[in-house]
Amino acid sequence: MKILVTGGLGFIGSHTVVCLLNQGFEVTIIDNLSNSSISVLEGITRITQESPTFSRIDLRDKQKVADFFEVNQDIDGVIHFAASKAVGESVEKPLLYYENNINTLVYVLQEMRRKQLSNFIFSSSCTVYGQADNLPITEEAPIKKAESPYGNTKQIGERIISDYAKDHKYFKAIALRYFNPVGAHPSAEIGELPIGVPQNLIPFITQTAAGKRDMLSVFGDDYPTEDGTCIRDYIHVMDLAEAHVVALKRLLNKNNGQNYEVFNLGTGKGNSVLEVIKTFEKVTQQKLPYKITARREGDIISAYADTQKANSVLGWKSKYNLADALKSAWKWQQKQE
Ligand code: UD1
Repeated sequence: MKILVTGGLGFIGSHTVVCLLNQGFEVTIIDNLSNSSISVLEGITRITQESPTFSRIDLRDKQKVADFFEVNQDIDGVIHFAASKAVGESVEKPLLYYENNINTLVYVLQEMRRKQLSNFIFSSSCTVYGQADNLPITEEAPIKKAESPYGNTKQIGERIISDYAKDHKYFKAIALRYFNPVGAHPSAEIGELPIGVPQNLIPFITQTAAGKRDMLSVFGDDYPTEDGTCIRDYIHVMDLAEAHVVALKRLLNKNNGQNYEVFNLGTGKGNSVLEVIKTFEKVTQQKLPYKITARREGDIISAYADTQKANSVLGWKSKYNLADALKSAWKWQQKQE
């Protein structure tokens, strides 16, 4: 079975490629290297002893997308990761985000339609729920007005896919709503590669412990939570990667319920920022310098997944805990120069 992975050299994409190769899939990657590095391909090969084919294509180039599908008509499924993902940047450059995340999705779907290809997995986010009224968050929770252009692109992306699937019964798709992806492959051959100053908590923590950053800022300790800091559901990237393969097989084996489905991917457990810091210090024996600062604009108080649907319908459950994820992220950080 031949699977196209767009954004396959990115953080979640590369780990998913490893899982696919380990399970005998043939993989072809498209990536424009805008937020990834060609060295990731070598990491994938060192882990799997396999070399997936790679095409450096920017999916905004409609003709190149068409050319790719013309040559690769034998694709059995598509996992679409390619997108921009920084919330703050999306506020500064909304048009870039709409072009990168929406145009590219439409172009890929148009070419899949032309070739009558099915089995589409979409990279979505728990950001579609905003601050949910009830915790843990189920897939039935209402979609709240997006706080950022990035969040809006995930909502619109899901809508585009469900609209298309509605009238094209041959086409099957699953949207996976990730909570907070963290960690790295246990070999530390691949991991998260933030460009510039990391915006996300875990890479900021590991870079601070490594001495690359002076101090971690904890954005607010006056939230209505037990210790006053925000709560998130940190899910190991290896668990996420595995979930993509499970979701893909559900479509390939025609086990899906409707032809468009959504699943939350999280551990079901919420951890506060201070708990993350403490766990990191404990499992790595590193002292982490941090200070409490003002709240970050746009942050929600608390989000963690209800994992029941993913557990029972998809047949997937996370295996790793926060300590495992932080340990692997630290091992990966130590390998960076
Ligand atoms: C954000 C997005 C999410 C996106 C993810 C990855 C929202 C609501 N969330 O998640 O959709 O998939 O980024 O790009 O749009 N923190 C600090 N200090 C730091 C960094 C973070 O205290 O230096 C805190 C934050 O306030 C937050 C927690 O750590 O409480 C996690 O933050 P972060 O890793 O940025 O992820 P989210 O904002 O949850």
